[in-house]
Amino acid sequence: MKIDGKEMRTIWPEGDATSVGIIDQTLLPHRFATARLTTLDDAVRAIRTMQVRGAPLIGATAAYGVWLALRADASDDNLDRAYAALLAARPTAINLKWALDQMVVAVRNRPRAERSAVALRRANELADEDVAINLSIGRYGLKIIGEIAARKDGARVNVLTHCNAGWLATVDWGTATAPIYLAHDKGLPVHVFADETRPRNQGASLTAWELGHHGVPHTVIPDNTGGHLMQHGLVDLVIVGTDCVTAQGDVCNKIGTYLKALAAADNKVPFYVALPSPTIDFTVSDGIAEIPIEQRGPEEVATMTGKTKDGRIETVQVIPDGSAVANYGFDVTPARLVTGLITERGILQANREALAGTFPERAKLAP
Ligand code: MRU
Repeated sequence: MKIDGKEMRTIWPEGDATSVGIIDQTLLPHRFATARLTTLDDAVRAIRTMQVRGAPLIGATAAYGVWLALRADASDDNLDRAYAALLAARPTAINLKWALDQMVVAVRNRPRAERSAVALRRANELADEDVAINLSIGRYGLKIIGEIAARKDGARVNVLTHCNAGWLATVDWGTATAPIYLAHDKGLPVHVFADETRPRNQGASLTAWELGHHGVPHTVIPDNTGGHLMQHGLVDLVIVGTDCVTAQGDVCNKIGTYLKALAAADNKVPFYVALPSPTIDFTVSDGIAEIPIEQRGPEEVATMTGKTKDGRIETVQVIPDGSAVANYGFDVTPARLVTGLITERGILQANREALAGTFPERAKLAP
């Protein structure tokens, strides 16, 4: 996507061939800055501190992290160490493990002298694949928006989204946002309600920022507003991203997604999930019972960070001293609440047959 007229991705190998560039997402929306990762530890820290975040981008960063590790030491021991360190950096996004497994397959049987070059090549391929996958998701999702636009005869199509499943969460295009960007670029009158997404406000700070930079009309809403909007016919469809989809089509995504799915079902608003196939975990069936949910630090709930009137960035405490805090990062939306899964191979029903039938090569690898 473009930042101030310049084409950018969220992650890229630097020209010096020794480091990786990223957009530091912890500084957005008030400051745009890039950072450079030169070591395995840099990559692990970037994922853990959420300088990079969003399932597909976490996967891409992990892939480049393996390259950075092998540049320093191409031994089997160091490969194993890099795999373990990166895997532990964020627990929920299944793309992380998928990308690490891809890297291990690519380098494990290669001579040490070749491993670093092979790893860089494979990480670049995985990044390019992510871009192609998201564009394909966008093309399928565009049909849904186009049909609604035709029905509404020129009135704006209101899409509600949660968290940030935009291009910042991927290498480019985004998952949930890819259909939106394509619709906007095609001249369809699309408007986005962006859930603010407490506690870290990825919707307010990241989704709003990237939509704004692309010129997509949008409105930031407090997380609790979606149900009211749906009751009053102000949302035409919901599109969210996901961090893990199970073999039976349950969807794990940013905390609060489940409540939006309930409100959508109650109001007969279509609820779509946009996902690249590396987000499917065919080893898991019942998402509620089986997916371990990341629990994050209390400070994310206890504080808010923002810009003061005189332009300083400050963090303030918003709860009483001493109150306990719970900070579950994700929740699971059961498949029965999902209208459709928008994948790079088409729009599927959220069930085992559709997923395994569309991605047989992935399904057959699961035990
Ligand atoms: O905790 P984050 O910011 O890494 O959360 C991930 C997300 O951005 C969302 O869950 C998103 O909808 C899925 S990633 C395309």
